[in-house]
Amino acid sequence: MYTNILTSYNEGVTTITINRPSKLNALNKETIQELHDAFDAANKDAKTKVIIVTGSGEKAFVAGADISEFANFSVEQGGQLAAKGQELLFDFVANLSTPVIAAVNGFALGGGLELAMAAHFRVASDNAKMGLPEVSLGVIPGYGGTQRLPQLIGKGRAMEMIMTAGMVDANQALNYGLVNHVVSQEELIPLAEKLASKIMRNSSVAIGAAIHAVNAAYEDGVNGFTTEIQEFGKCFGTLDFKEGTTAFLEKRKADFPGK
Ligand code: COA
Repeated sequence: MYTNILTSYNEGVTTITINRPSKLNALNKETIQELHDAFDAANKDAKTKVIIVTGSGEKAFVAGADISEFANFSVEQGGQLAAKGQELLFDFVANLSTPVIAAVNGFALGGGLELAMAAHFRVASDNAKMGLPEVSLGVIPGYGGTQRLPQLIGKGRAMEMIMTAGMVDANQALNYGLVNHVVSQEELIPLAEKLASKIMRNSSVAIGAAIHAVNAAYEDGVNGFTTEIQEFGKCFGTLDFKEGTTAFLEKRKADFPGK
């Protein structure tokens, strides 16, 4: 069904694997559209409680936007490339109500790091290398990198990474808080699945509301505290809230209907 990505489903988790290994999983237009479609489908699928995004092979998560596709673009086309990409994939993923974990299994450069940063959090294998090399190509990060990197690691570190176009290894990324955990390559997907299974024990409706409230802190003209109050209030009208509080009072494990 897809040309450049693979999807699989197992026990509440949909895994989306970017699969262009000969191009180190670089994001061309078609791959961005396919990723949009796959994320959209997984988010709408009631069985899917967590989405894991990773890259195929042992070398790369995603080595960036496909440079060969935009090398001849005009000013207008450049602007459109960034706008369309952010709408279809990067902002789209960041705002999904289903949690997205990026399992960074190798190079995550440019658009690759931007995709990992659009996910709700990141885990990495010890061979991973991350960076925003755009200025070495005469361009800047255009898929949210100038905004999300400072949000995640602080302005000074982000400025250094962006200006030097350098890469950080997995341990430095861990030290920066860019990734939450570092394990060997074999342990990477099992770790992401273990985190997914912990997430799945909780109310998916509450998790979606929490994602919305956390993201509100970074939206222009939105007061995150107000969003939190609204989302908090809405939870009281859900079946998950009834079940969660009842189960606690009855001293049993909650069985959330996800509504
Ligand atoms: N866009 C298009 N093609 C890419 C790519 C990208 N971002 N990243 C890698 N590729 C392609 C290479 O052109 C090469 O294709 P070819 O075999 O048809 O020539 C193939 O993937 C393998 O990459 P290669 O450079 O040979 O691997 P390497 O191990 O020598 O180097 C990297 C790995 C990641 C350091 C190097 O590929 C690189 O610097 N990529 C570009 C990173 C970048 O600037 N990304 C930001 C884009 S905005």
